[in-house]
Amino acid sequence: MTRPVDTLAHPRGPATTSDRNGQGGAQEGPGFALDTEEELLAVRHTVRSATLAAGFGLIDQTRVVTAASELARNAFVHGGGGRLRVDILHRAGEQGVRLTVTDQGPGIANVEAALVDGYTTGSGLGHGLGGTQRLMHEFEIHSAPGEGTRIITTRWAPA
Ligand SMILES: Nc1ncnc2c1ncn2[C@@H]1O[C@H](COP(=O)(O)OP(=O)(O)OP(=O)(O)O)[C@@H](O)[C@H]1O
Ligand SMILES: [Mg+2]
Repeated sequence: MTRPVDTLAHPRGPATTSDRNGQGGAQEGPGFALDTEEELLAVRHTVRSATLAAGFGLIDQTRVVTAASELARNAFVHGGGGRLRVDILHRAGEQGVRLTVTDQGPGIANVEAALVDGYTTGSGLGHGLGGTQRLMHEFEIHSAPGEGTRIITTRWAPA
């Protein structure tokens, strides 16, 4: 099931990631493995650095770090490990940080249900996905049983 969710309609429209010479663009970041507890701990530092590089203030830095941490832990716990990519985006007057978290785990049968606070198939509180969606401006989830999970989420801040 594919469910793009615009949690906060953004007035300037989407950034282009291919238009490197024009107004928009993206610096593609490296990928990070999410296969060990150590790698999960490193996520906070890596994402904090990216938000700093994008010029985010402390509160926005913390929002994106928290979102990355939740998604990385989901990929590790529910997906059996995965990968994180962090991209810095540019568009008129704004900078963005985009997180792409993928895993090849069992996938999510009911994405709508998984986004609701309190829904969990594990021992957590079930607040990770819903909370992440609220912390970020754009949130897209692609997941299906047997096909793994891919979440792409972005937060913007004034340049
Ligand atoms: N990457 C994933 N692969 C498979 N299932 C997932 C994945 N991410 C989330 N889920 C499913 O969605 C449910 C809700 O996820 P969510 O992060 O909101 O809560 P949780 O991980 O159970 O608890 P916590 O509050 O500790 O994050 C999970 O219990 C799990 O069933
Ligand atoms: Mg979770």
